[in-house]
Amino acid sequence: MARTEGDTWDLANSVGATATMVAAARAAATRRPQPVITDEYAEPLVRAVGLDVFTKLASGELDSDELETGVGFPRIVDTFAARARFYDDYFAAAGKEGVRQIVIVASGLDARPYRLAWPAGTTVYEIDQPEVIAFKTATLAEVGAAPTAELRTIGIDLRDDWPAALQEAGFDPARPTAWLAEGVLIGFLPPEAEIRLLDAITPLSAEGSRFAADFGSLNDGSEQSQEQARRTAEGWRRHGLDMDIAALTYPGEHTDVAAHLRADGWDTTTFVLTDLFAAAGLPGLDETEQQGPAATISFVRAIRA
Ligand SMILES: C[S@@+](CC[C@H](N)C(=O)[O-])C[C@H]1O[C@@H](n2cnc3c(N)ncnc32)[C@H](O)[C@@H]1O
Repeated sequence: MARTEGDTWDLANSVGATATMVAAARAAATRRPQPVITDEYAEPLVRAVGLDVFTKLASGELDSDELETGVGFPRIVDTFAARARFYDDYFAAAGKEGVRQIVIVASGLDARPYRLAWPAGTTVYEIDQPEVIAFKTATLAEVGAAPTAELRTIGIDLRDDWPAALQEAGFDPARPTAWLAEGVLIGFLPPEAEIRLLDAITPLSAEGSRFAADFGSLNDGSEQSQEQARRTAEGWRRHGLDMDIAALTYPGEHTDVAAHLRADGWDTTTFVLTDLFAAAGLPGLDETEQQGPAATISFVRAIRA
């Protein structure tokens, strides 16, 4: 299912299903004896979407080791838990530095506005496709969840004029902001939309603003990554799910987000997945595991001096 201009989705199909996958991994991580993260809203959100394999992973009915082998995505639960923890820590540090304005782009089923202890006076803006935003808001209201910060949601496509919508919702470019783009600058936007996104963020970022993201491409076009993608799609199919992540990503060269931000005057620090595992106190990735989908993704934290 190739991408098309202006395509839309809900959480059960296309790019939306990848948000459900990541939330299922967070739910499975939350069930572990010494969890790296605690996301009590991930399981009810995944259940409400109703994709069987993810509901089973989230509820503990499906063993994650078995799933990881079946779909050829080693350490899938640890990977998304370590990533979530990395960004949880990023927001905690931003809060300590006095940042009270947060923007989460491509927020999916991320429940941070409900599960993190935000400092008083924090406003969180979330941006994703309208159906994704509406579903999460309604589902969390049904389970009685209440935001732990002032939450303003913006249902808009990131290929459209989201900066105008953000400012209409009350975003103040004069205040420092902590931005997050988790799991989106990895091929889900066309390369030119990635650049537009970063170029829109910089002028909206007052001194002291922060930015964090993962970047690279899940589909670098090599024979090895195509083969990996085929095996993974086949694995999901055996679990009754039609999800080919490589086909959901835009092919071609994607933006080196850290280099782009540096050129725009940000101070950047980059990380690889093994750094995130170490920071989360997880056992390291062995050589084979490092060849998995994680091999082509980097992570960046940046500060606008
Ligand atoms: C892999 S999910 C990550 C979700 C969330 N950040 C997380 O880590 O749980 C990718 C998200 O990007 C969003 N997304 C991708 N392209 C988008 C676009 N053009 N406009 C708005 N949202 C988009 C999808 O709806 C989905 O929620």
